[in-house]
Amino acid sequence: MTARQVQLIAYPSGRVGPENFRVAEVELPAPGEGEVLVRNQFTSCDPGMRLRLRESGPAGYFNSFPLNAAMDEILTVGEVVESRAEGFAPGDAVTHAWGWRDYAVVKAGQPSLGGVGTLAHIDTSLAPPEKFLGAVGNMALTAWVGLIDAAELREGDVVWVSAAAGAVGSLAAQIAKLRGHTVIGSAGSPAKVRYLLDELGLDAAFDYHDGPVGDLLRGAAPDGIDVYFDAVGGDHLQAALAALRPWGRIAMCGAISEYESTEPQPGPTNLFQAVANNLTLRGFRASAYLHRFPEAQRELAGYLAEGRLAYRETIVDGLENAPQALMRMLAGDTTGKTLVRVS
Ligand SMILES: NC(=O)c1ccc[n+]([C@@H]2O[C@H](COP(=O)([O-])OP(=O)(O)OC[C@H]3O[C@@H](n4cnc5c(N)ncnc54)[C@H](OP(=O)(O)O)[C@@H]3O)[C@@H](O)[C@H]2O)c1
Repeated sequence: MTARQVQLIAYPSGRVGPENFRVAEVELPAPGEGEVLVRNQFTSCDPGMRLRLRESGPAGYFNSFPLNAAMDEILTVGEVVESRAEGFAPGDAVTHAWGWRDYAVVKAGQPSLGGVGTLAHIDTSLAPPEKFLGAVGNMALTAWVGLIDAAELREGDVVWVSAAAGAVGSLAAQIAKLRGHTVIGSAGSPAKVRYLLDELGLDAAFDYHDGPVGDLLRGAAPDGIDVYFDAVGGDHLQAALAALRPWGRIAMCGAISEYESTEPQPGPTNLFQAVANNLTLRGFRASAYLHRFPEAQRELAGYLAEGRLAYRETIVDGLENAPQALMRMLAGDTTGKTLVRVS
């Protein structure tokens, strides 16, 4: 059969543009032994993909996307249409990592994205399929382990979450809030700040464009913070180092302010604060904490079922618009989880 896939045709320098991609029609072989054919329904846009749109990405991170070929290892959900793999049957709802295409032949049991993207059933009685790319999927795991394992969230902690209107940030902020913490969120527009205050119920929020981040954070948390959930790096990280109280902790989840830079960005100039205040800075990747997934998923699915979790999605229709969706997300023009509806 013929399938459509998005291919990268040139590595972008600076901002990603539509000229970096094309949609190609390719011949798809029938599934072999141990493989399934999946009709993809929703596919993910993740900031980390920007790091893979480089000829050579950060050492130790996921591989760069090759040119003029399918962009492998992008999370997606879909429905099995044909199966030659034990345990999978037509009609099964599944998640896997062969996104940014309409149909995929996927090998059962083949590890992908550090295990996060390995072909697996999804339990659609828990939540609709697309939520497995967000509120009860990898985003949930990332937010949960960032707070619980990386930041070792403790009773009474005051928590600051950056990119708090985004997929991971909105979950991290709400998990902390639902567990009884004082939570400050930051985001990139007045509308997002309203969302953080009115819909997510955060205690304080600011738009990081409104002045130096350190000043805005001091205004929102005059007595300082204990935990910083970092999605941004750069000036946000520097502001957190200045605001953290003794024994404070930073969960280093991402550094999106650097992803489209053409030059290496300088680190914080106040790193000594980590020594002065016995701080812990811990980087983490959700894929290293797969054993925590059932617990994280149970907690988030529980909140969702009880109607206590606000979770927005920005859904862009059409596989051909996947690059546009990625560009919009990187530019802050989406709220919550950014998804592409493939079919
Ligand atoms: N460690 C892990 O395992 C893991 C897993 C998934 C994601 N991540 C990381 O988590 C972070 C959030 O990912 P996500 O999927 O939830 O994306 P997201 O927050 O839904 O989207 C990214 C958001 O980042 C904000 N942003 C863009 N440029 C910025 C800048 N220069 N300064 C401040 N904010 C900026 C934008 O919102 P505004 O309008 O607020 O600017 C944008 O909406 C990323 O750093 C990502 O790499 C890490």
